[in-house]
Amino acid sequence: MKYKIGVEHIVSIKDLTKEDYDTIMDLTEKIKAEPEKYSKSLEGKILGICFFEPSTRTRLSFESAMLRLGGKQLGFSDTASTSVKKGEVLYDTIKMLEGYTDAILLRHPNRGSGKLAQNESKVPIVSGGTGTQEHPTQSLLDMFTVKEHFGRLDNLKIAIMGDLKYGRTIPSLIYSLAKYSGNKIYAVSHELLRISKEVKYDAEKMGMEINEIEELTPELLKDLDVLYVTRVQRERFPNDDLYNKVRGNYIVTKALVDRANQNMIVLHPLPRVDELDFEIDGLPQAKYFDQAQNGVYTRMAILLLLIKGEIDV
Ligand code: CP
Repeated sequence: MKYKIGVEHIVSIKDLTKEDYDTIMDLTEKIKAEPEKYSKSLEGKILGICFFEPSTRTRLSFESAMLRLGGKQLGFSDTASTSVKKGEVLYDTIKMLEGYTDAILLRHPNRGSGKLAQNESKVPIVSGGTGTQEHPTQSLLDMFTVKEHFGRLDNLKIAIMGDLKYGRTIPSLIYSLAKYSGNKIYAVSHELLRISKEVKYDAEKMGMEINEIEELTPELLKDLDVLYVTRVQRERFPNDDLYNKVRGNYIVTKALVDRANQNMIVLHPLPRVDELDFEIDGLPQAKYFDQAQNGVYTRMAILLLLIKGEIDV
């Protein structure tokens, strides 16, 4: 079976067709079943890693994915020791890395930085998070985790809860869910942390209805398939007064999970601060560590498809 997607870069979920999406899901499933089968697939290839913002999961799971595929990586996880500190612009950093590597993973705080890199690079660009705009590979692994549990990606009821304004995983997840029919999204947040008008507009254009609410009602909890929780992104607030106003409003406790549909799963892109009580970690509904682990397999599939172009499995 041959696997191929119709894009050379992944910086926005909006660029992927449903067929691309299904291809990535299917290949990830195959890789997860037999990861050792791919241990030489990217031998001789190098991934360039440029992280202008901190990360644990995205950077390390991509590194793990590259190593498990037999490739290598180079790059930086902090700009302090790079020429960015001397004033080098993103365009020049990308033009350097394209000569040193076979693909570039970029995390950058500015909106539009992923597209800029994509437009200028001769090698595939993967966004590891673009400001508050998008985190496409996170939503691919989120959706893989949902599919693994429910066996489908359509006709699901999903509550997204927490910081829907600054959390970049949220737009990517909404655009992903919009690719499949019958999904219903409930956006649960403080009024100051609602989904941006731009994301709502894009989602509606894709045929996705978003129900904005401030509380998870008992009726909704009984009906939910997925509760997707996000941290309040303190680092993106203009000041701490505003942050203190909205922090700690949405905390998932064991009592809350006990009141929910018992087939519901709890997802979180992590890191967590205080929004997931540690007492729920051992519950069968808590899938966020499985979700993080799925990041390795999903990113193996992404690297294979972008660097090789076509995979015969
Ligand atoms: N989920 C996620 O992007 O985590 P990191 O910021 O640790 O990469």
